Amino acid sequence: MASASMLVTATAATPGLSEFASDVVAGLSRPGQKELPSKYLYDDVGSALFDAICLLPEYGLSRAGMRLLQHHSAEVVARLPNPVVVVELGSGSGQKTRWLLKALARRQRVNYYPIDISSSALWRGQQVVGQIDWVRVLGFVCAYLDGLRAVAARRRDGAHMLVLFLGSTIGNFDRPAGDQFLRDVRKTLQPGDALLLATDLEKPIAELLLAYDDPAGVTAAFNKNLLARINRELDGDFDLAQFDHVARYDERHRRVEMHLRSKSCQRIAIRKAGFWCHLDEGESIWTESSHKYDPEEVITMGERTGYRCAGQWIDSEWAFAQSLFFAL
Ligand SMILES: C[S@@+](CC[C@H](N)C(=O)[O-])C[C@H]1O[C@@H](n2cnc3c(N)ncnc32)[C@H](O)[C@@H]1O
Repeated sequence: MASASMLVTATAATPGLSEFASDVVAGLSRPGQKELPSKYLYDDVGSALFDAICLLPEYGLSRAGMRLLQHHSAEVVARLPNPVVVVELGSGSGQKTRWLLKALARRQRVNYYPIDISSSALWRGQQVVGQIDWVRVLGFVCAYLDGLRAVAARRRDGAHMLVLFLGSTIGNFDRPAGDQFLRDVRKTLQPGDALLLATDLEKPIAELLLAYDDPAGVTAAFNKNLLARINRELDGDFDLAQFDHVARYDERHRRVEMHLRSKSCQRIAIRKAGFWCHLDEGESIWTESSHKYDPEEVITMGERTGYRCAGQWIDSEWAFAQSLFFAL
């Protein structure tokens, strides 16, 4: 029996303060709708709050993804080439991935490469999957594609890759950007490599809005933490009490949007960026989109970006799909 090993590698691509500062300035200077990139929701505090969101009864996505992997991992593994290395994009705390790794470890030794911009989430994930026999873990703290390229560069002859993109994180991209992302992933893969893509499906709007605006206020805290992060890291003076967390559904784009809405007319200093932001009463900052899909649409999305679909599993309690693709 092999013992699992753990190692965290930080690559040069970790977003630094200056990148954060310039993205904040660019997003808050936009004419019209102000925006902050959703990737900045995940500092140490944000990642811990996201783990708490995954436990909320209203946030059905996470449990659906877990159930699918719990029940169908053996079927997924049966369709994969042998051997494969596993790369996970935005792995977070890796709770659901363990089901797939356990199934795979029944047939081969597994090299598992989780990639996440949040070092604390990555660390927690390694505690979970590092316990599994026959699984060796090497994590990368960096952006998705930088990490994927770093893993691809280590590929041994004859080994295939399985890329996991779980949690419906693809839904944070708008549809054209999601297509482009899948194409960029495809460019790093070889024919026969696999991609397991999780997508949250359309469902009644009231149910969706509760998932992103829970009565206990955990999602509100997750969203507002982005302003707190700016205060901490960029010496900002956002008063969090002056903002409401808002989740709204955009029917045209089929997405839930999270916003932070200013309760008053205010001027905010972000000193380390040398920037002052003005917000009117009622004006919002858009912080995250979560696009919702139709199961067939997911298959065509894969087909037009360089893959063929080899299976799709849909949860019976919360409409949520995991689709297995092979790179053409
Ligand atoms: C919605 S969570 C999903 C986590 C996990 N996959 C799950 O299913 O619960 C998204 C994860 O992606 C990470 N993330 C967000 N943007 C990223 C980026 N550009 N590059 C790498 N990781 C990113 C976040 O830190 C977070 O852990």
